[in-house]
Amino acid sequence: MKEKIEAVRSDIANRSISNAAELESYRIEFLGSKGKMKELFGELKNVPNEQKKEVGQLLNELRQLAQSKFDELKEKLEEGSENEDRLDLSRPEEFVPLGARHPLSLVRAEIIEIFSRIGYNVSEGPEIEDDWHNFSALNFPPEHPARDMQDTFFIQKGNDPKEEFALRTHTSSVQVRVMETQKPPIRTISPGRVYRNEAISARAHCFFHQVEGLYIDKDVSFADLKQTLLYFAKEMFGEKAKIRLRPSYFPFTEPSAEVDVSCTICNAKGCNVCKYTGWLEILGCGMVDPNVLEASKIDSKVYSGFAFGMGVERIAQLKYRVNDLRLYSENDVRFLNQFKAAF
Ligand code: PHE
Repeated sequence: MKEKIEAVRSDIANRSISNAAELESYRIEFLGSKGKMKELFGELKNVPNEQKKEVGQLLNELRQLAQSKFDELKEKLEEGSENEDRLDLSRPEEFVPLGARHPLSLVRAEIIEIFSRIGYNVSEGPEIEDDWHNFSALNFPPEHPARDMQDTFFIQKGNDPKEEFALRTHTSSVQVRVMETQKPPIRTISPGRVYRNEAISARAHCFFHQVEGLYIDKDVSFADLKQTLLYFAKEMFGEKAKIRLRPSYFPFTEPSAEVDVSCTICNAKGCNVCKYTGWLEILGCGMVDPNVLEASKIDSKVYSGFAFGMGVERIAQLKYRVNDLRLYSENDVRFLNQFKAAF
C-alpha cells in the first residue's frame, strides 16, 4: 500500500500541465469520483488495523497535495487567459506618485501673492549680470567691498578682462532693468536666485533666493515704506506680527534700514531662535538714493521711491522652522515630502 501511495505521489509531481484540457484530465485521473485517490481510499479497508492510522495519514497528505496542485494550476491558467484574451477596462489607471512643492516655491508664491494684492507686478532678469546692473547703476563706488572676489562670483568672457560678468549678488539688478525701460509709477517685485561666494554651512550658502521690491512714484515717503512692510509682515506671519526698523547702510538707498519682525516662534517672549531678543531680522530696505534714480534717467526732483529685499530661505525658515539652509538644495525626499500638505 505504501508503495502504491509513493507511486501516485511521484505521478502527481511529474505530471506537466500546460492547458485547461490537460488540467481537466489530471482532475479526472486523480481527484475524480473514479480517480486514483478514491481508489486508494477504497483500499484503506484492506490495510491491517495497526497500520490504518499511519496509512490514513499518508493518504490525507497525498489528497491535499493533489488538490493544491490542481488549485494552483487552475489559478495560473485563468490569469494567463485573462491577459491574452481581453483588456480589463475597469482596472484603475497606473498609480502616478504626486510630488510635493518645494518649500521655497511655496514661500515665493505666497510673497508674490501678498504683494500682487496691493498692485505689485513681477519682473525677472538674467542671473549672469554685467557690472552696470549689479553694481554701478546701484551707486556702488568702485572700491566697495561687495565687489570684492570674496562676495561675488566673476565670470570672464573670452580673454578680455573688460568682458567681465558676475553672477548677480542680488535681484536689485532686475530693478535697474525695470527703471531703465519703464516710466514711473513703478511697482514691482523681483523674485530670483542670487549667488555669493560664501562657504556652505547651516547658515550660509553660495546661492539663495530673494524677493526684492521697488516702488517709484511722486511723493513716495518713508511712511509708505513702513506701512507696506507692516502689511507684508501681518499677511505673512499673522495679525499679531509687529515690525521694527533699525538704521542701516546700503549704497542704493538713503536712508536705509534693516527690518525685524516680532518672533513668530515664541510670540516675542524670547527663545533660542530669536536669541532671547523677541525679534528676527527679515529684510533690508530704504528710500531709493537719488543717484540710483538718475543713473536710470528718472528725474529725482520729481520722483521718489522705496526699495526692499528679503531672503526667501529666511522667511521659509521662520514659517516652517527649517534650521539648516543646506536642506533646501539637497533634494532629500524625506525633507521635501513634509511639504505635501502645504499649498
Ligand atoms: N539688495 C540688498 C541685499 O541683497 C537688499 C536690499 C534691497 C536692501 C533693497 C535695501 C533695499 O542685501
